[in-house]
Amino acid sequence: MAEHDNKHHDRPVSPTASCEELPVETALRPQRFDEYVGQSAVTDNLQIFVQAAKLRGEPLDHVLFCGPPGLGKTTLAYVIANEMGVDIVTASGPAIERKGDLAGILTNLKQNDVFFIDEIHRLPRVVEENMYPAMEDFHFDYIVGEGPSARNLRLKLPHFTLIGATTRTALLSSPMRDRFGVVSRLEFYSPAELETIVRRSAQILQVPLDEEGALEIARRSRGTPRVANRLLRRVRDFAQVLGDGRVNAAVAQEALERMEVDNLGLDRMDHIILATIVEKFAGGPVGVEAIAASVAEERETIEDVYEPYLIQEGFIQRTPRGRLATARAYAHLGIEAPASQSRLL
Ligand SMILES: Nc1ncnc2c1ncn2[C@@H]1O[C@H](COP(=O)(O)OP(=O)(O)O)[C@@H](O)[C@H]1O
Ligand SMILES: [Mg+2]
Repeated sequence: MAEHDNKHHDRPVSPTASCEELPVETALRPQRFDEYVGQSAVTDNLQIFVQAAKLRGEPLDHVLFCGPPGLGKTTLAYVIANEMGVDIVTASGPAIERKGDLAGILTNLKQNDVFFIDEIHRLPRVVEENMYPAMEDFHFDYIVGEGPSARNLRLKLPHFTLIGATTRTALLSSPMRDRFGVVSRLEFYSPAELETIVRRSAQILQVPLDEEGALEIARRSRGTPRVANRLLRRVRDFAQVLGDGRVNAAVAQEALERMEVDNLGLDRMDHIILATIVEKFAGGPVGVEAIAASVAEERETIEDVYEPYLIQEGFIQRTPRGRLATARAYAHLGIEAPASQSRLL
């Protein structure tokens, strides 16, 4: 799934960024660990590793970040480069098509630089295989000439840090995963953490915002900073046009209702998915393929974008036989759960 697709740009709680959002995302992106809210299980250790690497004058170990879109993987890669005081070169897995593309990037890195690969699970196989010796021994093999006169040449690379990001840990090959010294999983944010993020962003964007307004946005952001920042900007529009520009609870509620984001942050598509499982498939278990076909979405999008939050919040359970709507899903839809479903409460 493309990180910056436009397919879901009209969906206010989409955790992926649309192209026109990228500049404002950059403006709101924390630069240092002390600006990066939450995820302390990940950042506490990372800060130590960064400090230690700096003390030794060595590059940081290779780091892999996993987790749903919009939780701050790319941001952390930039924070690490900043804190290390090195440059960062970024690429997306599917965009590195050939071995030569990889050689071009690697040979231009400087000592200790960060090389960030987004969607690393989508790296082409041949590129991935050439990444292994680069990660392990910092060399790159290539062949010059053809036939009997062909020679194998070995390029020495500067010692660099590879930071990989993936929404799909399961799709990453295990030889690749094993070559990362640090593997960290980012979690959904609590409403309190999102409130801090919303306040910080409001300050940068100079949006007047009161406490209840911040909390209202935080509660409905699907645990995702990218969504929180987007809802803040949309609510600001409503506040400016319909009110006096101030974001308070009333304006936030009105705006979010108009955007069809409910009090738990679920939007129309979430409702359609839940209603599909409940009504078309009798609450499940139903395979993700069948759900995807029913709601005319790609399976990958269901799994990457919609499902993680619905599972985290206990609306859906993933079972070996498929997805199951929980009692909470029935309650949220206002439909009475059959007796067999209520044991899942
Ligand atoms: N921990 C955080 N604290 C503050 N803002 C954050 C944090 N994580 C993410 N953000 C905001 O959310 C946006 C999306 O984060 P990003 O790193 O692009 O997510 P991902 O790469 O995981 O999809 C960023 O522009 C940033 O403003
Ligand atoms: Mg990203």
